[in-house]
Amino acid sequence: MTIDPTELETVAFTVEDGVAWVKFNRPDKRNCMSPKLNRQMMRVLDELEFRDDVGVLVLTGEGTAWTAGMDLKEYFRETEAQGLRGTRGAQRESYGWWARLRWYQKPTIAMINGWCFGGGYGPLFACDLAFAAEEAHFGLSEINWGILPGGGAAKVATELTSFRKAMYHALTGENIDGKTAAEWGFVNEAVPLSGLKARVSEVAKVLLGKNPVALKATKDAIRRVREMTYDNAQDYLIRAQEAANSYDNDGRKEGIKQFIDDKTYKPGLGAYDKTKATK
Ligand code: COA
Repeated sequence: MTIDPTELETVAFTVEDGVAWVKFNRPDKRNCMSPKLNRQMMRVLDELEFRDDVGVLVLTGEGTAWTAGMDLKEYFRETEAQGLRGTRGAQRESYGWWARLRWYQKPTIAMINGWCFGGGYGPLFACDLAFAAEEAHFGLSEINWGILPGGGAAKVATELTSFRKAMYHALTGENIDGKTAAEWGFVNEAVPLSGLKARVSEVAKVLLGKNPVALKATKDAIRRVREMTYDNAQDYLIRAQEAANSYDNDGRKEGIKQFIDDKTYKPGLGAYDKTKATK
């Protein structure tokens, strides 16, 4: 089946030095998420996930926006016109790629270069780390046009920041800038836009130096244990490490060897040299 070329254009990506730079690519529409974009993003994530030349995925936006949330015309109005089947279909496509991203094989970084609204909080939370331009704007704008923050946005706000802040943010629809987003916990850090890509590249490089099996096990563990009791978490972590060992049983042994026997690095100060791992 041939895909409409205007659908393919909604997402752009390049792979450089182990990093996949994926862009929302509808700058004229402030990168708002249409059904076409949602379908194409799933294809792109699918294509990149298990590629050997991709160790980290960065999600950013072309132009002045990261994403202005859901497309009010194409995602809401036009799909509603098709009845419940249209609405549920559009929801499946958007929620589908956010879920795929939450449990992605590779570590992911949201690089928020500009506007980030409403539905954009789904992919924001889906990324493992997030770095924003100080100049970026974050908002739960739903209240301003008469709906509640759906698509998980209300959940994301309460997951990332305090109850009072989330409530104020959602009820007033007031935006916060990148600096405040970092103070509130929406992102790890905010830096001036001019230095954003350099900072994200630096963090991606750190991740590329780590054991990839341990990275996947760790990112899943951090997401999973949040909802568990202490005992359940402890048990899950034992099982998850044992499962990870079935993919890579040599990495951690090499890590121990390079510290204890070879004395070539200190785990407290950096990662072991994984290029020397015995297989
Ligand atoms: N849905 C549909 N179209 C959108 C959109 C969205 N979420 N966000 C932007 N656009 C469109 C505008 O309609 C406009 O289209 P046009 O050129 O055909 O008129 C184009 O993108 C540019 O938007 P504009 O509003 O002129 O850009 P701006 O830079 O002045 O303002 C925003 C940027 C993000 C503040 C503003 O576009 C906005 O408020 N967008 C809606 C945010 C929102 O509430 N999202 C929904 C969350 S679920």
